[in-house]
Amino acid sequence: MITQSRLISKYDVPAPRYTSYPTVPYWETNPTSEQWLQCVERSMQPEDSSLAIYIHVPFCETLCSFCGCNTSITRNHDVELPYIQDVLNEFRMYQQRVPATGERALRELHLGGGSPTYLSPDSMQRLLEPMLESCRVSADVELSIEVDPRRTTFDQLKVLAGLGFRRISLGVQDFDPEVQRLINRNQDYECTRRVTEQARELGYHSINYDLIYGLPRQDERTMRDTIEKTIALRPDRLAFYSYAHVPWIKAAQRLFTEADLPSGEEKRNLYEVGRQMFASADYQEIGMDHFALRTDGLWKAVEAGTLHRNFMGYTTQNTNLMLGLGVSSISDSWDCFHQNEKVTKKYQKMIGEGQLPTFRGHMLSPEDLRVRRLILDVATTWRVKLPADLSADVRAYLSEMEADNLIVFEGDQMRVTDVGRPFLRNICMGLDLRFRRNKPDTKVFSQSI
Ligand SMILES: C[S@@+](CC[C@H](N)C(=O)[O-])C[C@H]1O[C@@H](n2cnc3c(N)ncnc32)[C@H](O)[C@@H]1O
Ligand code: SF4
Repeated sequence: MITQSRLISKYDVPAPRYTSYPTVPYWETNPTSEQWLQCVERSMQPEDSSLAIYIHVPFCETLCSFCGCNTSITRNHDVELPYIQDVLNEFRMYQQRVPATGERALRELHLGGGSPTYLSPDSMQRLLEPMLESCRVSADVELSIEVDPRRTTFDQLKVLAGLGFRRISLGVQDFDPEVQRLINRNQDYECTRRVTEQARELGYHSINYDLIYGLPRQDERTMRDTIEKTIALRPDRLAFYSYAHVPWIKAAQRLFTEADLPSGEEKRNLYEVGRQMFASADYQEIGMDHFALRTDGLWKAVEAGTLHRNFMGYTTQNTNLMLGLGVSSISDSWDCFHQNEKVTKKYQKMIGEGQLPTFRGHMLSPEDLRVRRLILDVATTWRVKLPADLSADVRAYLSEMEADNLIVFEGDQMRVTDVGRPFLRNICMGLDLRFRRNKPDTKVFSQSI
């Protein structure tokens, strides 16, 4: 039988993370703003429909050299209030054009970035209070934020807790000082511990840490040490991301050299080390990159069969509409994706002129909708029922994975085996008809492991 390390090297190929289908490089049928608003309207038609809001705050004070997110680096906090005003104006545009967005149940709101904790407590209040007041907030709403612990204060956490925030995600990445030096991110253990303890004290009940494997100068020793320190603080959830090295998009990743990065084999070993240490500490594997304690809502959603996946990653809420507000944010009405302008100044100009800041998107074809459902099913439940007309084709395409015992076919279902779990991205690629028909010539995705 083929060993785990052979499997990992065999299947370590560029692969999407499937937070959408079609994946972004395959978007082609861009909606106009008017077409997008019609999709929003349609998604909000059922009286029991619900929505989620994602707000992107792009600002960070310093640039971490590994970062692949959409950020604006500035220490000038005068940018806060105009930006908040623009996000509120954008939301008002939606509420005016599609009043149901203010009438349907708001079930999830997430502040992401960049660094949302760039905003002062007062700015946070000015953004969130009017927004929540203009929505019909559901009793089971989940309010969450991702924070850079180096720039997170007790006062910020308190303001958010007062508004109902109970979920928080801390960017940790790695605790090793040398790794931190190379990624330009000095964040001592005490800082992460302080924010974790303060959040718990204030009643946050779901604390996530983001960790990354494959960063410059990481090795097995540093990885074990980081994970031991992590487990000691007992976050409820863990995201264990593969470092996406995309220097052709993010120039700051050239601040370290490729010689500083663990080799393919070393990186794959770091992943296995992490996976085993999480399992020994009773973290359950949720799906791509994510682990959670049995007491966390994410695991409970797995058990209840209600886990969902969207641009925010895995979530416990499945809404008819996800409205992305702020620069570069992506919205999703299930049958259409819509992305906002990616340059902050242009986004602000468009909002100032009373226009929806449409940049691009994709209107899903009937085939896209079918494939989207299949990929979502396998990414959230480790199994999928294959339609009769696709079954033979998918089985033939994935025959090597079947032979390697990554998947098994049981009646009309395909199931991911325990051995196959680390290869979920590869398995999804077998269902991804757009990718299969038109493989990219250039490197557009990071490695699967
Ligand atoms: C918006 S960022 C971080 C939030 C916050 N600004 C911070 O730094 O803590 C969300 C997460 O994306 C992950 N991330 C960013 N760039 C990445 C890359 N190149 N490869 C893999 N993960 C990355 C990091 O784990 C990070 O915590
Ligand atoms: S990792 Fe976080 S703080 Fe660092 S540049 Fe990226 S978004 Fe900003």
